[in-house]
Amino acid sequence: MQIQVAGLIQAYSARGEGIPLLFIHGYPLNRSLWEPQIDSLSKIACCIAPDLRGFGETPLPAAGPVAPEALSMELYADDCLQLLDALNITRPIVVAGLSMGGYIALSFYRKYQQRVAGLVLMATRADADTPEGRQKRDETINIARAEGTQAISSMMLPKMMAPITYKTKPELVSRVAKMMGGATVPGIIGSLQAMKSRSDSSSLLTSIAHPTLILHGIDDQLISSVEAETMAAAIPQAYLELVPAAGHLPNLEQPELTNHHLSQFITRLNVSI
Ligand code: MLT
Repeated sequence: MQIQVAGLIQAYSARGEGIPLLFIHGYPLNRSLWEPQIDSLSKIACCIAPDLRGFGETPLPAAGPVAPEALSMELYADDCLQLLDALNITRPIVVAGLSMGGYIALSFYRKYQQRVAGLVLMATRADADTPEGRQKRDETINIARAEGTQAISSMMLPKMMAPITYKTKPELVSRVAKMMGGATVPGIIGSLQAMKSRSDSSSLLTSIAHPTLILHGIDDQLISSVEAETMAAAIPQAYLELVPAAGHLPNLEQPELTNHHLSQFITRLNVSI
């Protein structure tokens, strides 16, 4: 589905009824990341999954008030809020983000806490990029400019999942390669710049007043599960789930277990709100 919101054509999926559950994808992916979750969770929640600017079917406006260089976690969070408003969703939502989607979820929480009933932080972390990390972003931006999406996708593919997933789930590996291969160069560059300049959310964690599910693959090669443990220790109402035989995409590598944890979290939340 597509909707025009504040000059942006936003593509999104929406299915189910109940508590709104917003799924925010990571980099350089798109909303199809969440298909196994929408299939399952739409039985108990109203699942909404947008394509972020420059990914999937949401174009990155080439000109206009917001150039790719000006993308930020706050802007992606604003896009999410505007989508919810356009869909007349006023009830507090559960915000679930994977990796960069988690950075956006934290930014959404910082700006629009009154719209949140719960958080799901998947394969993500709270801290900002280190100086070395920022330098690496610049190198990746240069590769994207010079060699295009395929080079980025080939660089990332061997690190996206757990070593065991490459051996046992070749069809999933192809699916992820295809998803990354669909990203546009401006979308990739815009999100790398946005991630590079994102603020540190560590100090936010102790003030998160809502139940938060932290879910992380034990074999995540991109973001260590130590980051998940650190967030869980700081957030007052945190539930930590470490997923075995999963890397950076636990929701695709272990969909049943991920859906079980999500469903348990939503059910608990429905009882308490
Ligand atoms: C992601 O999966 O969204 C990114 O790898 C996160 C990052 O590069 O920091």
